[in-house]
Amino acid sequence: MTRSAWLALSFLIAAPLAANDDISDDRRQELHNLLIQDCGSCHGLKMRGGLGPALLPDMLQGKSADYLSSVILYGRPGTAMPAWRPLLSPAEAHWMADQLLQGVAQ
Ligand code: HEC
Repeated sequence: MTRSAWLALSFLIAAPLAANDDISDDRRQELHNLLIQDCGSCHGLKMRGGLGPALLPDMLQGKSADYLSSVILYGRPGTAMPAWRPLLSPAEAHWMADQLLQGVAQ
């Protein structure tokens, strides 16, 4: 195998493991602001609900970060929940789902 093929292969193996750690501190701050301002416009500034349902850890009990991040990425067709795929990578949506499960720090 060529050197570049090895590099590509090791990237494929390492990428999923590194997924959440690849997000810079600056980007985390942007994502946090997006959660409060954009998501908060429907889900409430404190995630207590509004046009969209409350997204507090208690309400999300039993739902996985994978499930929640796919709702964030693809939205819920036929409802007001938009798809965020154009703005967020899967790793970023996953990070946001983790934040919701832990409770978004104010
Ligand atoms: C324009 C309004 C609106 C915005 C903005 C919005 N949502 Fe939603 N969201 C909704 C609605 C309405 C639902 C419920 C859809 C349904 O009836 O299934 C929902 C559902 C969800 C769910 C599924 C909850 C569950 O228990 O299954 C998650 C997770 C979610 N939103 C996260 C987000 C995040 C994160 C953002 C910001 C990136 C966001 N939403 C922005 C309206 C919105």
